[in-house]
Amino acid sequence: VKTGYGQAPVNIALSKYWGKRDVALNLPTNGSLSISLPELGTETRLSWHETGPDKITLNNEEMAPEAPFVKRLSRFLNFFRPDANGGFDVETLNTVPTAAGLASSASGYAALVKALDDCFQWQLAPRELSLLARLGSGSASRSLYDGFALWHKGERADGLDSYAEKIDQTWPEFCIGLLEIDTSTKPIGSTQGMQQTVNHCELYQAWPEKAEQDLATIHRAILDKDFQTLGATAENNALAMHATMIATWPPILYWQPESVAAMHRVWQLRQEGVTVYFTMDAGPNLKLLFLETETPALMRALPEMKCLKPFA
Ligand code: PMV
Repeated sequence: VKTGYGQAPVNIALSKYWGKRDVALNLPTNGSLSISLPELGTETRLSWHETGPDKITLNNEEMAPEAPFVKRLSRFLNFFRPDANGGFDVETLNTVPTAAGLASSASGYAALVKALDDCFQWQLAPRELSLLARLGSGSASRSLYDGFALWHKGERADGLDSYAEKIDQTWPEFCIGLLEIDTSTKPIGSTQGMQQTVNHCELYQAWPEKAEQDLATIHRAILDKDFQTLGATAENNALAMHATMIATWPPILYWQPESVAAMHRVWQLRQEGVTVYFTMDAGPNLKLLFLETETPALMRALPEMKCLKPFA
């Protein structure tokens, strides 16, 4: 019996990935840039047996073989089976609510490829692991790293140049605030949401170019530690991504009334002089971006906020 272990953080995109140019290989229409949250993530233990089917345990509960989560995972594991008769035993622990727009699939597939690397002693470099994680979930390519990561969209049809790299910058004052509106499972998964947007939204034509521009602006802002440019560009990027979803047919709106109320609250706080911005993914929750100096004001205004420090 071969065994392996891997762990990986959740990441939040500051410049988003929305749209696939190749669905089977998870090749994106545009690059993206993220920050990892080491306090949240996935831990995976895995073993390979010569006989028997896969057995998948999520948060100490054995999953039914026909569960969508298991089917997707087993399909991914097909890339790596030494032979057709054996099976993987996978035990996964998430410290994030699964499928609530907090990217448990990102930390999940990143932890899984690390566990596979450990199990089979491949000793792959991070960018190679990033490439493999991408095949499981696009955003997982960015969860191989702590801190800021940049996923190059790549140009090749085989995807060999589509992986993430670490951005060399530490920013100890950088904070992420989680405003959880609703942590139940989202109605439309990101793959389906992306396909619907790419195929049925006229506004989408403008997205890939804007996304690449925002990515470059945020990358520069990280190197310069220019927080206001970073925050404003990230918030605008998230809203532009959601605009393409709203303008598709049938429409996709991940927001709840409470999400919109929270956005107004953030804008109001900015008016009052608090330097805070938000970003949102394929779910109703807000992620706030701010520097440590603003923590006391924000905890007063939004006591329900969970404050995380990516560089702690
Ligand atoms: O990697 P996926 O298929 O879960 O897609 C992630 C999509 C967003 O979270 C909305 C954006 C991003 O870049 O993380």
